[in-house]
Amino acid sequence: MTPIHRIDVGGDMPYRIHVGPGLLDDGAALVAHVRGRHVLLASDGNVAPLYAARVIEALAAHSPVRVHTSNIAPGEASKTIDAFAALMHALADFGATRDACVFALGGGVVGDLAGFAAACWMRGIDCVQLPTTLLAMVDSSVGGKTAVDLPQGKNLVGAFHPPRAVFADTTTLRTLPDRELRAGMAEVVKYGAIMDAAFLDWLDANATALLERDDDALAAAIARSCAHKAAIVARDPREQGERALLNFGHTFAHAIEAEQGYAGGGGGLNHGEAVAVGMVLAARLSTALGLADAGHAMRLASLLQAFGLDTTLPSGLDPGALLARMRLDKKAAAGGLRFILWDGPGSARIVPEVPESAVLDVLQ
Ligand code: NAD
Ligand code: GLY
Repeated sequence: MTPIHRIDVGGDMPYRIHVGPGLLDDGAALVAHVRGRHVLLASDGNVAPLYAARVIEALAAHSPVRVHTSNIAPGEASKTIDAFAALMHALADFGATRDACVFALGGGVVGDLAGFAAACWMRGIDCVQLPTTLLAMVDSSVGGKTAVDLPQGKNLVGAFHPPRAVFADTTTLRTLPDRELRAGMAEVVKYGAIMDAAFLDWLDANATALLERDDDALAAAIARSCAHKAAIVARDPREQGERALLNFGHTFAHAIEAEQGYAGGGGGLNHGEAVAVGMVLAARLSTALGLADAGHAMRLASLLQAFGLDTTLPSGLDPGALLARMRLDKKAAAGGLRFILWDGPGSARIVPEVPESAVLDVLQ
């Protein structure tokens, strides 16, 4: 029987992350975070038919709470101001008061959108994150970053709004498409790369079990990833400093995603896939700048490849255009390109003013 892992996130607004099988059926635990009589269960058109009834039944077995539902179309294209407005209207329609609670059931798209709705309704109501993708379990459900996209860029409108609790029910990963599981593994590898060299060895040894969706291996990997993210966000909840390390590989990744028009579902890379490529490019840039051995970058690439992730820049992308995107990236500080660079397994650093010529060399 896979144990339930529990990780506490400290700081001004502490909360607990629960990781393990069957958590969506634990109505007593879920309802403990509902202060009032109303829950808005936000989800998407893939996840709701699979899991919403379980949550509703679990809550009903323990409380007379009324559950209202609102589902978006699956995918990044739904992380919009319009979808946010629809959630505002859903809350208004049932007369949500300050003690209402938003449950975000789905991947990072639902989590970011529903979390932002909770941040804004009446200047902030409770949110419980119920992540159902590996990426959401190890990253987006933890740390309180919520947002929607604009045509001009991703996550431009948002707020820091930590959840009251996170319940990562690992049984939901059984229905996750293979591609999404692999994409989530990129973010898991990231924690090993930047914070935990021994975790990289563990991931190497457990790659087959993880890809075969072994419950124990997945829960252990998620819990260890969450423990790392929890430690960083407790120290730096608003990304004034070290939280930026979590963006290892992301400057390259965001440029790739933007150049491909966020076409994860249409032939382009999705976020996790782009992060895999971006981490290897960042590792090579670190080598070029004399920070890390070339062998480390090769080892990182082969670990990502073991998880079925491509680590080469997709063909057809223009290095100059990618560089221009990076100049616009929010991590580009005044005066030069800022990168999260790598010292080798388990250690990364923020480097301001990286020469553009070195970045171009890596892209070519
Ligand atoms: P996603 O939410 O689009 O989910 C991927 C796909 O899997 C969707 O089609 C979804 O319907 C489907 N799905 C989800 N769970 C499923 C399940 N259990 N079974 C079957 N299908 C399932 O994508 P994602 O990768 O989870 O999240 C990406 C988003 O997360 C991006 O918008 C990104 O900006 C955001 N993000 C936010 C943070 C943060 O700190 N807030 C961190 C990383 C990423
Ligand atoms: N995903 C990066 C962060 O939460 O800061």
